[in-house]
Amino acid sequence: MYLKCVLCVIYFSVVTSRTIYVELNPPSTEQLSFLKKYGYLPEEQGDADFAYTPQSLSEALRKMQAFAGLPETGALDDDTKKLFRTKRCGVKDIDSSPSSPRSKRYILQQAWDKKHITYRVVNGSSTLGKSRVEQLMEVGLEMWAPHGALSFSRVDSGRGDIQVTFVGGDHGDGFPFDGPGRVVAHAFPPPHGAMHFDDDELWGDNPEEDEEDVTDFFAVAVHEIGHALGMSHSNVKASVMYPYYQVPVERLHMDDILGMQELYLKDQEELVESTESPAVSLVPRFTKAASEEEENYMPDLCMTNYDTLQVIHGKIFVFEEEWVWVLRDRNEMEDGYPQRFHDVFRGLPSHVSIIKTIYEKQNGNIIIFLLGRAYWEFDTSFRAIKEGTLSDYSIPEEVSELTTVFLSNYNNKTYLIEDERYWRYDERAGGMDRGFPKEMSMWRLVPYPVDAAIIWQGDTYFFQGPRFWRFDNELVQAHEYYPLPTAQVWFHCQSTADMDRYITNDGP
Ligand SMILES: *[C@@H]1O[C@H](CO)[C@@H](O)[C@H](O)[C@H]1NC(C)=O
Ligand SMILES: *[C@@H]1O[C@H](CO)[C@@H](O)[C@H](O)[C@H]1NC(C)=O
Ligand SMILES: [Zn+2]
Ligand SMILES: [Zn+2]
Repeated sequence: MYLKCVLCVIYFSVVTSRTIYVELNPPSTEQLSFLKKYGYLPEEQGDADFAYTPQSLSEALRKMQAFAGLPETGALDDDTKKLFRTKRCGVKDIDSSPSSPRSKRYILQQAWDKKHITYRVVNGSSTLGKSRVEQLMEVGLEMWAPHGALSFSRVDSGRGDIQVTFVGGDHGDGFPFDGPGRVVAHAFPPPHGAMHFDDDELWGDNPEEDEEDVTDFFAVAVHEIGHALGMSHSNVKASVMYPYYQVPVERLHMDDILGMQELYLKDQEELVESTESPAVSLVPRFTKAASEEEENYMPDLCMTNYDTLQVIHGKIFVFEEEWVWVLRDRNEMEDGYPQRFHDVFRGLPSHVSIIKTIYEKQNGNIIIFLLGRAYWEFDTSFRAIKEGTLSDYSIPEEVSELTTVFLSNYNNKTYLIEDERYWRYDERAGGMDRGFPKEMSMWRLVPYPVDAAIIWQGDTYFFQGPRFWRFDNELVQAHEYYPLPTAQVWFHCQSTADMDRYITNDGP
């Protein structure tokens, strides 16, 4: 039995070797073993923990923070310390083997090689009876079933393909549980299929919010079923396959659904693609009839982080996962959005599932940067005309990805931003300006890495996470009244306590 990602396709921000790490309190033995257990640090380095340098530890923390969606400080800050103590699944987050290809955010192991799968609930816990566990398992399995065209049936004796047990401590599979809290369950991918729930947890059925010591069985079971069907962890916080305990679980996220389709429906999809379009992958992503859940799925711009935004042909385009919204002005959404960006920018390869950054060239053509060094150029009617790489901009090979690109109205130059440094490209001259890269810290009070930078009505704005800053070109620093919460100011979202945290002033 080996709890390992066979194929982990996963993305996380690559930490440059130039990272400045804050004076790092050495992690405790427990924190070190957490980092190793979940794949953030290599399992063994010689046989001594002191073989880890402050830098490698800082990078491990950044990866862990990136995966969890925390600010990537690389330091043991309070949120990160809290994460070490958060209830979670015991399966690895990332495969540290170097062969992992990148490009998708959900990650896969292997699928069952059949469409009908049996399950057996061997026992319940002391606080949650076996028959209730069986009912909840059935509901959970039905959530996943349609997305892999799978069916499930229960067996009451013998061995089910998926076998559910409540066990405590060291239970013989090499992955002992740790008593109450922290690791609450784990599951093995096909063809093993075992799901183990830590019997030292207080398992409950839809517990009240204030019952913090009670762990919701259903929320954990839906996640573990994902593993038993071959899914790995996702860094998309709203997804079921996010490794940390979240309640309630009511539905699968697009990220989970796409993972299932990749695992179980890929052959069908390829069939459709190959008959419809011999000219390889230039077809829209959803060639087959979308299932009901997929059709109804609509992300809410107020409830989500977005990947990037940019002003294109005078309108504001906001990207999140597969989706794009268009606003004609602050707080004024164009009708008919969100749409899938594949339906707006035609001709991107169908496997592209995220737009990293995007900008409009001086001639009105659009450049979309993907994960990694690839980009695509689109004409003014958003049709793909050319594929290229960062080498075309003379960005050095060691740069694996840009975070933000924008065209400044100040000097008509293109700024290409990695995490902590940037280059300035002169489109007219067709080359990089001398003296670059420079440090992002030159732009005082602007956060980095930035998720997006735009010029709107003559002003330069930077966006990071849920906040944005306006840059003052005269003072060469962010305006003192910022940051402000992006969703409220740009997307007409209701104020929530969560957002209010990001208001740092009383406004100009
Ligand atoms: C459930 O069954 C397993 C396997 O037979 C056993 O090891 C475990 O102790 C049982 N758990 C409970 C709570 O009875
Ligand atoms: C930038 O280019 C635009 C369009 O070509 C032009 O109108 C504008 O004057 C230029 N601005 C600068 C600062 O060169
Ligand atoms: Zn898990
Ligand atoms: Zn186990």
